Order: sequence, then structure tokens, then C-alpha cells
Amino acid sequence: MDQPYRVGTDVHVLPSQLPVPGVGVIPIHAFVLMSRQPVLIDCGLGIDADAFVDALRSVIDPADLAWIWLTHDDSDHTGSLQRILELAPQARLVTHGLGALRMNTSWAVPLDRVMAVAPGDRLDVGDRMLRATRPPTYDNPMSTGIFDESTSTFFSVDSFGAILPSSPRHLEELSDEELAGGMTAWATFDSPWLHLADPERLSRVLDTVRGMGAERVLSSHLPPAIGRIDALLEIVAAIPDAEPFVAPDEAAFNAIAAGLAAVAAEA
Ligand SMILES: [Fe+2]
Ligand SMILES: [Fe+2]
Repeated sequence: MDQPYRVGTDVHVLPSQLPVPGVGVIPIHAFVLMSRQPVLIDCGLGIDADAFVDALRSVIDPADLAWIWLTHDDSDHTGSLQRILELAPQARLVTHGLGALRMNTSWAVPLDRVMAVAPGDRLDVGDRMLRATRPPTYDNPMSTGIFDESTSTFFSVDSFGAILPSSPRHLEELSDEELAGGMTAWATFDSPWLHLADPERLSRVLDTVRGMGAERVLSSHLPPAIGRIDALLEIVAAIPDAEPFVAPDEAAFNAIAAGLAAVAAEA
């Protein structure tokens, strides 16, 4: 885990990153939205569990959380979920209903604490309404982001993620090439169906997101993007024509594993 930091006055980023030896890093972000009823958005990596709970405690007493919004049940978002459900006994778990049921096949999800949401649903968190929003790209059909109209903030799940040379707090620290290359590498891996998408239908989806006019885009896998939605959408629009992602073969996998072992030895 890295040090938590703020975006504006109402959002704390709980940042981690996953090294991809020879390539760069994938940012792994959870967020705390300091609405009147505070919301934790996602629960980090399981390998970070102790540090994640410490990072969360540094910004809020977990017992004060009213909501845990799980964007989807992928393991890079659920790492500390079970622990935080225990530490936040009042909090309800807001997520796609079928995602909750799928997790329930691995561990006993407290289904009576689940509030199932579908895109378009609204959640009243005391001082604002959060709109459940389908992200334009995704690797999991349960993916459910948030649009906070009161601050024009889009929590975009895996959309707009990137594999980067580093994970700075400000997107401006990356060059245009690093951003476009990193987002393309991520999206061809994370949403390979983009290559199959009808271009007109995809552009209608991207137009819908553009129409939201999000000032702040808070992706799970990108440094906070302020005032950059048009540039991000332009990159995504070009991804169907990019080179498809190629999964590592055995030699490439062994090289990654050796790189990870070297990173672990340094730590
Ligand atoms: Fe995912
Ligand atoms: Fe993810």
C-alpha cells in the first residue's frame, strides 16, 4: 500500500499498485467518499490486507462506514471485504446482486446486509445521491460504478485503467504517450471484447459517458483524472483497432515470476 491521499475535500484514495515486471505497475485504488453517510468503495488486494485496514483507519474509523460499495467481485477489489464487514457492523454492502451471490459460493456473505443495485439505481447517502452506472469497459458483467452528480465524479471501476511506468498522484505527471499506451495495454487485456464491438454502438456508449460530463474520473486502475474525460474517451475509442493483447507464454510467465521474486527479495 502507498500513503492515502485526498482528491478534493470529499474523497480519500487508498492506493496500492501491482508490479508487472518488465512492464510497469497497475494502480489498485479503493476510495472513501466522505459523504454524510460515508462510503468505502472497494476493498483492495488480499495481499495488502493489514496495510489496507491501517490505511482505512487513517482516514476513518471503519465502524463509521455506512456503506461498502463493491464495484464487482474481482479479487483486486474484494481483498479486505470480509474483514471490513466485521469492522463496520452497521455498513451495508452495495453491489450487483449476482456478484453477491457468486461470492456467497466461496464464503458466507451476509446476504441480509446486501443492497443489490443495477445501473440507474440511486443511493441516498445523506447529503447526495449516488447513481449506479455501468462503466463503458469492464472485465466482469457485475461491474457497477458510481456517478456522483453533486461533484461530477465518476468512479469508473476498471474503465480507464492503465499499465504505467509508475503510479503518480497526478495524471499530469504522465506523458500523453505513457497514458495512451498504458490505457491501451490495460484495456486490450481487461476488455478484449472491445475488438469485437460494433464501432457505432461503442461510440454511442462512449457518447453517453461523455454526456455525463464527469469532471473527476476516479478509476480503480488510474491516477485521479481531473478534467480529462474527453482525452480518456478518445483513447478508449481507438482501442478496438489496437493490437490484441497476447497472454504470456511459459517463457514470458517464468520471466514475470522471476521478476516478482526479485521484487519480493528487495522488499
Ligand atoms: Fe475487474
Ligand atoms: Fe480491477
